[in-house]
Amino acid sequence: MSDSPTSVPWWREAVIYQIYPRSFCDTNGDGIGDLNGIRRRLTYLAWLGVDAIWLSPIFPSPMRDFGYDVSNYFDVDPIFGSLDDFAHLIHEAHDLGIRVILDWVPNHTSIDHPWFVDARSSRESVHRDWYIWRDEAPDGSLPNNWIRAWSDESVWTLDESTSQYYLHMFLPSQPDLNWANPSVRDAMVETLRFWLDMGVDGFRMDVVHALGKDIDRDDPEDLRMIGHTPLNDVAVTHEYLREIREVLDEYSRDRVAVGEVYLLDPSRVATYFGKDDELHLSFNFQSIFTPWRANAWLETIRKAEEALNPVGAWPTWVMSNHDNPRVATRLGGQDRVRAALVLLLSLRGTAFLYAGEELGLEDALIVPERVVDPGGRDGCRAPIPWSMGEHHGWDENAWLPFGERASALSVEAQERDSSSTLHMVRQLLALRRASTPLRLGALRNLHVEGDVLVFEREWEGSVVRVVVNFAKSPSPIDTSTGTVLFASETLTDRTHLNANSALLIQVS
Ligand code: NOJ
Repeated sequence: MSDSPTSVPWWREAVIYQIYPRSFCDTNGDGIGDLNGIRRRLTYLAWLGVDAIWLSPIFPSPMRDFGYDVSNYFDVDPIFGSLDDFAHLIHEAHDLGIRVILDWVPNHTSIDHPWFVDARSSRESVHRDWYIWRDEAPDGSLPNNWIRAWSDESVWTLDESTSQYYLHMFLPSQPDLNWANPSVRDAMVETLRFWLDMGVDGFRMDVVHALGKDIDRDDPEDLRMIGHTPLNDVAVTHEYLREIREVLDEYSRDRVAVGEVYLLDPSRVATYFGKDDELHLSFNFQSIFTPWRANAWLETIRKAEEALNPVGAWPTWVMSNHDNPRVATRLGGQDRVRAALVLLLSLRGTAFLYAGEELGLEDALIVPERVVDPGGRDGCRAPIPWSMGEHHGWDENAWLPFGERASALSVEAQERDSSSTLHMVRQLLALRRASTPLRLGALRNLHVEGDVLVFEREWEGSVVRVVVNFAKSPSPIDTSTGTVLFASETLTDRTHLNANSALLIQVS
């Protein structure tokens, strides 16, 4: 279907579907999703029309941060299956035209990783310098004032047996690797090669902007309580990224590096593309934090375009993930979910769709006895409801409770209803595949009319106009020119746009 120039890399045109493996589909009845569950649902994903899947970490892990604390980079955690299952998964996904991206966690390991076990065994151990250690000061003061994620605590924990502090930007059980040590870089590059050899199409790289660190610099007092991660922006990281990119390019030009560059200023994020020799893509988290207002979205889009265009970088858009509330919970109302999905899938850039957003799922309510995540993110990780029945395609022991309306929002219920959000997303994905302006076109004429956001996507004279009404009531707007390609709600007339709705019009 694609009539795009052959030089366009696949990931520019792609819709990448994020799977949180624990919550996707369980085939062995232990209440936790697994690789065979993903294999079972590949036909669903092909039917939906996504181009690639990104799997949150599948490596062996004590799961204190549910896989973002790796204890072996060269295997699959038995809870998810085996390397063999993964080989089958890649093969079957590729047969269906779906690429596979893994989540690579290079900034830190688990304390259970043999490197750290050795590192903490003595100050002279082979792996001591693979992590970041500082002496205990005589007055008991800490090496710097940085704050770790999800708390107001320091990034430094004292290792009693060797009387030095080690650094961890996340949990004390997630010590940061010392990327300044070339042996660490070599070892981590080997982990990339292992999975590239297995045929993966790329990596989502966890907190990759934080690999280089300037430990002797304190964070500004007025900002330090947001935690150190979004403040870590050090030049040497770009050298590490170039080394990583070289490895990917050795394989082929179409293995993609997607960075989680958790810096909240798009112009800082823009530096992580280098001269097309660092990341291919980076998340733009502004889109998750932008309130449901036309002016706010205008700003977010404008800032992304202004930051990325001058450096020739390609934008990305994401509305939710395993770390943040789902769209329905954040914005409220299925009409808003549908309009937000139209926006996500028609902006200029690669789109990331978190599993379950095609159903308009809501976060589950987590009672205190069911809390398992140290970062308070259980709600958006509720299992995917496949069927309407009692356990929604799972045994009775799913690791987290379902969202309240799991039956009504289940895949089974929505497959039967041609007006469902699921069918809407499927249609939108098909439309995007068939429309070069939507996949690749320039973004122009971005403006706001009252509560309505308007922009156009243009490719060689073919123009699709995108119109989104953020208001709770119909907004007057003339949409009479052109052919309606898609409407998120029934279109009553072409002088008004319904509350919380979106329209795509082919205007030339
Ligand atoms: C970002 C990931 O998205 C999050 O889930 C994880 O807890 C942290 N990085 C630490 O790896």
